[in-house]
Amino acid sequence: MGAKDTRRNRGTLAHRARYALGHPGRVPAHARRALRDAWLRLRHRDHIAYYRAVMASDAARSAEAAVGHNPSREQWARIGRMQFDYLVRHGLRPHHRMLEIGCGNLRAGRLFIDHLEPGHYYGIDISPHILLAAQDTLVREGLQAKLPHLTLADDLTFAFLPDGHFDVVHAHSVFSHSPLHVIEECFAHVGRVLAPGGFFDFTFDRTEGEEHQVLHEDFYYRTQTLAELAARYGLAAEFMADWEELPHRQSKMRLTTMSDRASTVRP
Ligand SMILES: C[S@@+](CC[C@H](N)C(=O)[O-])C[C@H]1O[C@@H](n2cnc3c(N)ncnc32)[C@H](O)[C@@H]1O
Repeated sequence: MGAKDTRRNRGTLAHRARYALGHPGRVPAHARRALRDAWLRLRHRDHIAYYRAVMASDAARSAEAAVGHNPSREQWARIGRMQFDYLVRHGLRPHHRMLEIGCGNLRAGRLFIDHLEPGHYYGIDISPHILLAAQDTLVREGLQAKLPHLTLADDLTFAFLPDGHFDVVHAHSVFSHSPLHVIEECFAHVGRVLAPGGFFDFTFDRTEGEEHQVLHEDFYYRTQTLAELAARYGLAAEFMADWEELPHRQSKMRLTTMSDRASTVRP
């Protein structure tokens, strides 16, 4: 895929008008989404409640579409495989304990679960609808014996999880749908649940221009903003440059606690 388009502000009226002229066939669907989102924002002031309602509405149509823009099963499987292959190349081992934030319907989770020892996968999500779809994936893939944990969460404080437990924390396409205060809450607490030498990988929609959002659903951040925010909570950031070569429009960052910068994951 090569270089990503990181300068454009997709939230401006000018961009949206240009896009509409270039893609007239997509205008009705975008208009429907804008109306639906405006209605849901009126009903739910809090971002998590709002986004949970967005997921309920999307999942009612198709769980695959709810976790990705392209609803085809092939595309769903391809993006899951890409996440999995990348994480295995970058350190995920079967004995690791993994927390997946925003696990969705286990697009990648099903591969993580299969790879990890029984009980070592812990997926959390804000959407009960998508967690039910995740159970369907488990059944379809015959992964019951791996006994993964799938838990509904209301925030990213991880208050119900133990200290120093997870070697790997992963969040794909979650911060691309999160305002900064949600990301900050995660950064403030993730260090507590990371095991010594553990790491937290996440994707984000990167901009090199002005930070912006579209319909309160898609959020674009500068790398430096997220790295500085992480540093405030004792986390060191590494931009995953080789992820940029993959056919995916987001970027990826890895956080480790500053106290164990020298080490990587447990051998
Ligand atoms: C685009 S989907 C991606 C799902 C999965 N990570 C994947 O790659 O297939 C985003 C998921 O994150 C969940 N989510 C969004 N914000 C969240 C938050 N603050 N905490 C936990 N889950 C969240 C949504 O409900 C949804 O299931």
